[in-house]
Amino acid sequence: MTTVTSSTRTQVAIVGGGPAGLMLSHLLHVAGIESVVLDHRTYDEIATTHRAGILERDSVRLLVDSGASDRVLTDGHEHQGIDLRFGGESHRIDFQKYVGASCWLYPQTEVFIDLHAARTRDAGDLRYGISGAEVHEVGASSTGPRVTYLDPEGARHEVTAELVVGADGSRSICRDLVEPRTQYFREYPFAWFGVLVEAPTSAPELIYTRGEQGFALISQRTADVQRMYFQCDPSENPADWSDDRIWEQLQGRVAGPDGFRLNEGPVIDKSVLPFRSFVQTPMRHGRLLLAGDAAHTVPPTGAKGLNLALADVRVLAEVIERTVSKGEAEALDTYTDRALARVWKAQHFSYWMTTMLHQLPESTPFDERRQLGELATLVASEAGKTYLAEGYTGWPDRG
Ligand code: DHB
Repeated sequence: MTTVTSSTRTQVAIVGGGPAGLMLSHLLHVAGIESVVLDHRTYDEIATTHRAGILERDSVRLLVDSGASDRVLTDGHEHQGIDLRFGGESHRIDFQKYVGASCWLYPQTEVFIDLHAARTRDAGDLRYGISGAEVHEVGASSTGPRVTYLDPEGARHEVTAELVVGADGSRSICRDLVEPRTQYFREYPFAWFGVLVEAPTSAPELIYTRGEQGFALISQRTADVQRMYFQCDPSENPADWSDDRIWEQLQGRVAGPDGFRLNEGPVIDKSVLPFRSFVQTPMRHGRLLLAGDAAHTVPPTGAKGLNLALADVRVLAEVIERTVSKGEAEALDTYTDRALARVWKAQHFSYWMTTMLHQLPESTPFDERRQLGELATLVASEAGKTYLAEGYTGWPDRG
């Protein structure tokens, strides 16, 4: 084994330097707690991977109030509603009217860039592009958990800490250390084909549409670049899709008697996004805590993934501060239940939005008419629209 070339002692070792890991490191710094952030990916890899673009009200508040990002308010766009479109007709869900809240269009890559800048400004210890990270001795009786890894030059390092946080995403190495653990899964028989296109905006707000050929989502990035998705088979290969074929699918799914059409332009990025629901419990094992995708994944409909990770981190920063700074060791015991209460709400919301709007390959004519019946009930009901608006803008955290 290569000898250890450096050994760092810190209070919290955070495995994963995406938005969840960086936000936690930032909140701990504000509370006077030191951390080291480790990630296998490089800064550029994370900053250029397209992810979802919608922030709930409390995610925006957290970024702004903690001093992590002002840009979300200046460069982000407030959205006061969405359009649900089915049977070729649009129905606006007015978030301000029903719940007095908005969400913000601000891509996850920008959230990452802002958080990274905040940690760099505050001299945070961030180590990207590492390999072979291993987490040791996190069990309840452990007094000193450690993370070992190789730096980009291949030298071996060690970080010892009071606590380790696994914010290492859907391919987490940390989640497997939780013993015993229960995992809940749901697979879906479809995926999303995601594109970035160079075209003017087609509508002022996001459009979630159930077309005869399946679901599509019309989102935005800037005045000149738009983000769009359509339901596809999980085995689709993006290379098989010409621009013309992509536009035909998108136009077909939004088409209706009102003659609505999308503004077209060159496709500058295309990929197939997997769909699944996953939860692992508990989210804590001894001195190890999990946050974000390491513990749960939602299907993308409704953009809950990043918001849920930030909600985990808000609770986690608080319980870590009580444990590390105030000696309240029992605070960690509350983490799993507090985090999972919101996780299961978001699991249901994402599942509901998904199954209400997508065409299931096995669905019968009865299923399709029932689905249209559900959508018609929703948009005709103040209670229904309020329910959607509450979930979409994010349930207020009363904890
Ligand atoms: C976006 C992605 C989503 O999954 C969603 O529900 C809304 C917006 C986006 O990438 O813009």
